[in-house]
Amino acid sequence: MVEGKNVVLGITGSIAAYKAVDIAAKLTQKGLAVDVVMTKAATKFVSALSFRSVTHRPVITDMWETPAEFNIEHVSLAERADVVVIAPATANTIAKLAAGIADEILTCTVLATRAPIILAPAMDAGMYSNPITQENLAKLRSRGFIIAGPGYGWLASGLVGMGRLVDPNEILGTIFQALGKKGDLVDKHIVVSAGGTREPIDLVRYIGNRSSGKMGYALAEAARDRGATVTLVTSVTELPPPAGVEVIPVESALEMREAVLKATAAADVLIMAAAVADYHPAKVAKDKIKRESETLTLELVKTPDIIGEVRGNIIKVGFAAESKDLIVRGTEKLKKKKLDLIAVNDITAEDSGFATDTNRVILIDRKGKVEQLSLMPKYEVAHLILDKVVVLLSRAQRSPAEKDT
Ligand code: CTP
Repeated sequence: MVEGKNVVLGITGSIAAYKAVDIAAKLTQKGLAVDVVMTKAATKFVSALSFRSVTHRPVITDMWETPAEFNIEHVSLAERADVVVIAPATANTIAKLAAGIADEILTCTVLATRAPIILAPAMDAGMYSNPITQENLAKLRSRGFIIAGPGYGWLASGLVGMGRLVDPNEILGTIFQALGKKGDLVDKHIVVSAGGTREPIDLVRYIGNRSSGKMGYALAEAARDRGATVTLVTSVTELPPPAGVEVIPVESALEMREAVLKATAAADVLIMAAAVADYHPAKVAKDKIKRESETLTLELVKTPDIIGEVRGNIIKVGFAAESKDLIVRGTEKLKKKKLDLIAVNDITAEDSGFATDTNRVILIDRKGKVEQLSLMPKYEVAHLILDKVVVLLSRAQRSPAEKDT
């Protein structure tokens, strides 16, 4: 989706400039063309060579000395950009932009572009809270600028406060969200569930499973990158919350049920990638259970089938974790739960399924069409599933759903 898109990454004079090298590297790894533009002050903190090394492209540091092989001026740079990002953005640059000043190639580019502009402020807490900076940011926001952060924490001055460059992952998420504004899922609301539920036994213990949540998070990010409004209902995972996605944290199957039913009331699509416990303890002990008796018996009761309970005009995609007879069992689940599509995982394979970054799934639709996907990163699997969702949505639009009748 984002491959081949052009990003202008502006760097201004803040100690956080070194973090932008990682942002430039990650964007390049995703297949984007990243043109880095540095202010003079930025070059005091980090060298142009660092950016050149990770983007494999010339870096612009001087309006009057644009590299010959680049052969572009600020206006063509502005026109070519699909998104302009300034990270870190200092109080000084923010003030110039608010006033429409164009005295360096970066400020010229921002003034000339029609692409979405993202600013990630980074500065001392006093400068950030100063009403002048706040007014400048409010003015830029009202003009459609997207402001990412800043975060709270340790500042270079030694003080703790607001002004830290927001987590680079959040900046990347904001960039992909801005690029997705013309995607094929614009105006669609997709609910994704992720992670393994935790079923409480007592105050401190729970029954869990080995799901990492990676497939669900990849789906939420991929849907966001295609322009969808995404709600991610997630049990506890070690993954950072994806930027630009509404995250609803839950723990148990019952909490997940409540959150999913609420979120899907007006949604277009539900993708249940969560590993929902099949059983939960009948009673949750109020205190910590003591190690006294020789044996301990827990009574478990069945959890509600969440995806099966979701009704109405909504596309439902499920996952099936199976160890044998993958296609037969997947097809049975698809029918039983009235799904539009099911992605079947072989949980005995080492390179796919739980906790891995890659997955190999079999997709089965309502017509019985079976598609075996090769081993690939979960983000790519997510896009192939969403390709099917796009087709299902266009079909549903042509003939309003009759499946739950
Ligand atoms: N699922 C659900 N609610 C449950 C259990 C599962 O919504 N209580 C969803 C899962 O998120 C998944 C699909 O149903 O999308 C299939 O989950 P899976 O665990 O493979 O199947 P189960 O119905 O639990 O059947 P079994 O464990 O017996 O294979």
